[in-house]
Amino acid sequence: MPKIAVTRWIPDEAVKVLAEAGDVAVSPADRPLTTAELHEFAAGASAVVGMLHDRLDGALADAAGPGLKVVANVAVGYDNVDVPALAERGVVVTNTPGVLTDATADLAFGLLLAITRRLGEGERLLRSRTPWSFHLGFLLGSGLQGKTLGIVGLGEIGRAVAKRAEAFGMSIIHSGRSGRGSVSFQELLERSDVVSLHCPLTPETRHLIDAAALRAMKPGAYLVNTTRGPVVDEAALADALEAGEIAGAALDVFEHEPDVEPRLLGRDDVVLSPHLGSATVETRTAMAVLAARNVAAVLAGRPPLTEVKP
Ligand code: DGY
Repeated sequence: MPKIAVTRWIPDEAVKVLAEAGDVAVSPADRPLTTAELHEFAAGASAVVGMLHDRLDGALADAAGPGLKVVANVAVGYDNVDVPALAERGVVVTNTPGVLTDATADLAFGLLLAITRRLGEGERLLRSRTPWSFHLGFLLGSGLQGKTLGIVGLGEIGRAVAKRAEAFGMSIIHSGRSGRGSVSFQELLERSDVVSLHCPLTPETRHLIDAAALRAMKPGAYLVNTTRGPVVDEAALADALEAGEIAGAALDVFEHEPDVEPRLLGRDDVVLSPHLGSATVETRTAMAVLAARNVAAVLAGRPPLTEVKP
């Protein structure tokens, strides 16, 4: 039976699918493996099921050996995977698009509501037992009706966020190349009341939101990031918030994940969540099962369901 190395816990439903295709070894470590551990763990594997915190590259393939046929990333984003290096070694790469669209869009919109309606601040106030009473000027947020949402990256998740925003009475603009609401990136920054990031992390989008981009945003605008942390220059974001250049930020992902820029941690105009975009039972199960089916298909000599082409 071929060895299938799974780098972190996955739901039983996915283990069952894998078990029909090979001998499944799930890493017992309840943490990301170090590079050395990952390479040792993958040795002799025909398939590696990896997570977004794993570096899945040519060195991993070399450590696994010539039997490696497929690397299945349990995420839609694959900035942690060196697809060309794996393709060069004849290894198929797969990801998990589609199944996490709604969950991620829900979380993005939840963060958008949390930051614009100051939910984190309100929660902290109550938990700290600070005395309070209702009054008309208390913890006022910013309404969404008639406001403009700027979507950077109008893929499946961006479009799902746009659908939700429309239901809340927002106008949508995006920096995609064509279609209704398409504007330049600069215009998007200048016009949006909320900028929501949904582009993949690539060399071109690393620090897309830098000091200049933040300066171009309206002083009352909010930033929401549910894609990948390094799309935002976190130090520049902290500077911009300190200088009052934007009104707030809601972040699910971090530049040096799992660490968070310390200056953001103490700020009331920041809402933080620990990479929970796809974190529902249904979605995480669907992601893992899709990854498992991709592995099973490749090991059986069939085409994978969701391949990432080099
Ligand atoms: C992804 O799939 O890329 C998310 O970041 C984790 O679900």
